[in-house]
Amino acid sequence: MSSTSLRTHSCGELRPEHIGTTVRLCGWVATRREHGEKLAFVDLRDHTGVTQCVVDNSVDVRPEYVVRVTGTVAARPAENVNDKLATGGIELQDCVVEILNAAEPPPFPINERADTVAETTRLQYRYLDIRRERMQRNIRLRAAVNSAIRRAMEAQGFVEVETPMLVPSTPEGAREFIVPSRQQPGSFYALPQSPQLFKQLLMVAGIDRYYQIARCLRDEDLRADRQYEFMQLDAEMSFATQDDVHAAIGAAVLAAAQAVGQDPGDIVKITWHEAMDRYGIDKPDLRFGMELTELTDVFAATEFKAFAGAGCIKGINASGKAEEYGRNKLDALTDKAKKLGAKGLVWLKVAGDGTLESPVAKFLTETEQAAVKERLGAQPGDLLLIVADQWITTCEVLGTLRNDLGRPPVHQGPYRYLWVVDFPLFVGVDEATGRPKPGHHPFTQPHPDDVHLLESDPLKVRSQAYDLVLNGWELGSGSIRIHQPDLQSRIFGLLGISQEEADRRFGFFLNPFRYGAPPHGGFAFGIDRLVAILAGEENIREVIAFPKTQSGMDPMTNAPTPVDAKQLDDLGIRVLPPKA
Ligand code: AMO
Ligand code: AMP
Repeated sequence: MSSTSLRTHSCGELRPEHIGTTVRLCGWVATRREHGEKLAFVDLRDHTGVTQCVVDNSVDVRPEYVVRVTGTVAARPAENVNDKLATGGIELQDCVVEILNAAEPPPFPINERADTVAETTRLQYRYLDIRRERMQRNIRLRAAVNSAIRRAMEAQGFVEVETPMLVPSTPEGAREFIVPSRQQPGSFYALPQSPQLFKQLLMVAGIDRYYQIARCLRDEDLRADRQYEFMQLDAEMSFATQDDVHAAIGAAVLAAAQAVGQDPGDIVKITWHEAMDRYGIDKPDLRFGMELTELTDVFAATEFKAFAGAGCIKGINASGKAEEYGRNKLDALTDKAKKLGAKGLVWLKVAGDGTLESPVAKFLTETEQAAVKERLGAQPGDLLLIVADQWITTCEVLGTLRNDLGRPPVHQGPYRYLWVVDFPLFVGVDEATGRPKPGHHPFTQPHPDDVHLLESDPLKVRSQAYDLVLNGWELGSGSIRIHQPDLQSRIFGLLGISQEEADRRFGFFLNPFRYGAPPHGGFAFGIDRLVAILAGEENIREVIAFPKTQSGMDPMTNAPTPVDAKQLDDLGIRVLPPKA
């Protein structure tokens, strides 16, 4: 596969069995070392590896020159054999070197580890950064994952359909990028946050099983797991239940993991309620314990003011952390708990003799202390943290502290995938309007057992929405959708969206449902996130060829840039001076 009209082999291909043959290699000069007065060693590199070439000292090549070397494969002298290198047993001798292109000295050495070079420099010279082994590996791994996902989806009868990039605004939660229309000045397209509405219309259209490796755009604050542009494996199925969707997506995840030699293991399933109750978060990291432990009953009759009458009291055991957490760190933990909405945080350190050391220990009876130790499995040296509040606050606060205290970096194995199911349909109440706020998008099907609670107790209604979680990152989400126009109107009513407003904003989407919409549901997972974790990277930038910096810039192209006045004029756009 590697031979072309210009070369016979790639730079990582030659082995002792090739000794005696004449070959032609093309590549970049990785290093040059003088060898005595007459000769020099040149390591020639391409993406497959390096080959040592023994060249005449007079040959003027420097790092990153692009050259073609014609030479004879020879065994290296015993003292020069390099067992760490696939080509370490051979070298090219009697070399004729042709310079295909000279190169200026690169702004950073191509062989050095990437973490010593500033991020903006790497992105400014991304084409050099990608020459490095780490980026070559990541980009090729990404391609292997994409390819495996495609094959897995197609093997299951999913049909690839492309959806448009210039779309109307859709209600998916994130801020949109908008694109001005030249033909209709004052009107704008949005770039798609996801193919959501189109894929559902493809179900109305009878496509039955759709998938796409889809580019999505969201104007969000960038973080380790977020870019403006990202890729989803996006899928939708007709006449399918949650379990069917999970099985189809599970097969794609399995194929992706296997493509990089990993086994994802069984994807366990837990409900949102259980995830919150045990881990205090809807994307629990199952790689470590420190589970939230129920203590409400222990303090049912307590005289300790902070705990008395609290709806829910839970604790976690930060095992072995008592010594590490001195006064300042404990104050910082307490402040953090308060910022997250707790009224306070009780900490207890387990001393060598098993007694609990804490400013509040004196308020707790011996029975209470014994029960806390027993429930949390306390051992000398442990740090116990307790919060008393409403159930959701107690869980969320302890869940955040649990992650802060125990969570390993996302990319460190083992890999623990899970489905979180039965998300609530609504998350809290909008203070301004008093209306429930949708948890997923407003087209999510409620749980059939809870539909009767929609008007009377909306916050109790579970939805048929689910997430796929890996090592504490949300990999993806999906849901069974509403396909019944009357139920959709009911949900809009609850959200305070009138029929008229619904028709105006989403009419193009809702009207088709009157022409025979099958029951359907789907899912989308973030390919960048999955690939980053599979590649052992902590930031999705490391698996994207041309990402943006944290501030949304591309240092290589300088995007975004101002545009000509003429261009703005054609679009009927006037730019205001920046706000002070
Ligand atoms: P959702 O909005 O949860 O669902 O997105 C699905 C997945 O896309 C990835 N993702 C991102 N990756 C990188 N950068 C971002 N800015 C970013 N935003 C999202 C995440 C996320 O879990 N249409 C629905 C899916 C459905 O209901 O079928 C959707 O887009 O991994
Ligand atoms: P206070 O009675 O407010 O002075 O609190 C006494 C101790 O209990 C302090 O260490 C607080 O941080 C802690 N505390 C107060 N309220 C709570 C609560 N709801 N849950 C956990 N700890 C609390």
